Amino acid sequence: MRSVDDIEVTGRRVLVRSDLNVPLDMSGSGAITDDLRIRASLPVIRKLSDRGARVIVLAHLGRPKGADFAERAAGGPSLAVVASRLGELLGKPVAFAADLVGPSAEATVDGLEAGDVALLENVRFEPAETSKDDSERSRLAARLAGFGDLYVGDGFGAVHRKHASVYDLPLRLPHAAGDLVIAEVAVLRRLTENPARPYVVILGGSKVSDKLGVIGNLLGLADRLLIGGGMGYTFLAALGYGVGHSLLEADQIESVRGVLAEAERRGVEIVLPTDIVAATHLAADAQSVVVPADAIPADREGVDIGPDTRALFAAKLIDARTVFWNGPVGVFEFPAFAAGTRAVAEELTKVDGLTVVGGGDSAAAVRSFGLAEGAFGHISTGGGASLEYLEGKTLPGLVALES
Ligand code: 3PG
Repeated sequence: MRSVDDIEVTGRRVLVRSDLNVPLDMSGSGAITDDLRIRASLPVIRKLSDRGARVIVLAHLGRPKGADFAERAAGGPSLAVVASRLGELLGKPVAFAADLVGPSAEATVDGLEAGDVALLENVRFEPAETSKDDSERSRLAARLAGFGDLYVGDGFGAVHRKHASVYDLPLRLPHAAGDLVIAEVAVLRRLTENPARPYVVILGGSKVSDKLGVIGNLLGLADRLLIGGGMGYTFLAALGYGVGHSLLEADQIESVRGVLAEAERRGVEIVLPTDIVAATHLAADAQSVVVPADAIPADREGVDIGPDTRALFAAKLIDARTVFWNGPVGVFEFPAFAAGTRAVAEELTKVDGLTVVGGGDSAAAVRSFGLAEGAFGHISTGGGASLEYLEGKTLPGLVALES
């Protein structure tokens, strides 16, 4: 992949695809609640602007629904709030276009001087961005290509999407990978090519069905898999334990049994919770008790790993030289059920080796506990993208940048 240091950008119009998909406060203000992705996208935007490029940033926000731009823009999240934050962080105004390929975008791009930065409205307000129809995506990409001389792919969190601004657009313009994409891929390579051992993977989060693919591939890479969170209850059910009202994907139990058998065959250790915090219901003030993992009461649901499991996971991390963590092991958004996820995060900071936190929820957990980002080897901006990379899948955005 070429980097932006390999291309001449002065005075040229550079389309930069970033991942600015930040969480917004949906309880009223609509304010950005975590600007990690904006901060992570800043270096390449600043570098291009400093080198005198006319920078046009493309990004998505949320998954807006609707038949056309107008319908999606009426009900979906606008990037206007992101343009303001980007401007604050850059220390200079960012021009914002109220459409993607319409008159506002045309006027905004025409008005750019060398060094200026603009952000166009949410690419997903155009249904063609995410269309499964190659020709629809291609037509949108052709219109976007008219705005730029060069393309820089820096939206790591979206490289697993075969979308117009991620895949089709770079095929139409001279292109380079942004600094964030290059950094993220370099770290993921270290997780897949000759990782220092023991290599421990901690997986949590709600759905085991989303993770079976990556688990299958990790059985060929990792030495130990520590499993917690909502997905852990399907593993406990696969051992024949009752899980009460806990999250359970009953249709995945057989597949999980297959994973357990395959792990045994390959000599990969799978470490499951030995005790669970079981609550009456899912609420911040719900009553809870710690119970053995094989004795979750029928009328309770698991909301966190218990203290024995915290100690067990810590012991399994103590000699680790490479760790990848994706997904909280409990409902950390409620302080009463955050101890397990906090313990995992804190143990990671003590590991003498490469630690990688992947996925929006785990990264948000790290920040909510006030742990210094520098205490981790790498906090990835891509949840689905990093999992698909570790699963060994082809990522369309990387394929296009490598072409
Ligand atoms: C993410 O939030 O993981 C990325 O921005 C990709 O978003 P998506 O899952 O809606 O494609």
